[in-house]
Amino acid sequence: MQARPFDRTFRLIHWLLAILMFLLLVTIFLRLTWLEKYSVAEIINAYAADQQIEINQDQAVTLAKKIRKPMWQWHIWLGYAITAVYVLRMLLPLFGKMRFASPKQPGLDVKTRFQYFVYLVFYVLLGASLTTGLLIEFGPDAWHETVEEIHVLSIYYFLTYMVLHLGGVFLAELTSLPGLISRIISGDHPTKSSE
Ligand code: HEM
Repeated sequence: MQARPFDRTFRLIHWLLAILMFLLLVTIFLRLTWLEKYSVAEIINAYAADQQIEINQDQAVTLAKKIRKPMWQWHIWLGYAITAVYVLRMLLPLFGKMRFASPKQPGLDVKTRFQYFVYLVFYVLLGASLTTGLLIEFGPDAWHETVEEIHVLSIYYFLTYMVLHLGGVFLAELTSLPGLISRIISGDHPTKSSE
């Protein structure tokens, strides 16, 4: 890994994106676990049977989706917020800020080249997730199913990215770039020798 300067804009965009994406991950986690529609429908069915209320599976699933809906609304709001940060991040290089680090630039070691390549792939795939998410909400009904099938695949690259990113960052912190994590949090402090 190579040391790059982290100005205020870089850190602000980075942490906005990181926090919003983490919260988004929480909504996905909830949808797949506690609020999974068939598990909730099972609870509804069991309660209805206990109370001798007649309810069929479709009705129980519909109710389960209604229970999940307010939580899932956060997923959609977070998606809009991430889209705004993403667009901002894409526009910033036009104003000379947060230029993309090219993996093709000469003089890079293999690790740094790979690191910059992973960032670019991440941004392309995030762009695809955001586009498919927006198409689910605003696109034509005929596209809904296909676009949703693509959108749900997002979790795979995101988790892979997080493993690579956090692994890479902690490894660099412990080996070649001590202080890296502190710099991305509070900025580039002048070292004692340069004071
Ligand atoms: C959901 C969580 C996160 C996401 C989506 C994320 C995303 C990113 C992206 C896209 C970049 C490249 C920025 C650019 O060049 O445009 C980056 C850089 C960086 N991130 Fe994260 N990040 C996350 C969490 C974290 C955490 C928890 C840490 C610290 C422990 C961290 C430390 C860093 C550092 C040090 C860099 C700069 C590395 C370099 O010199 O290139 N990130 N992150």
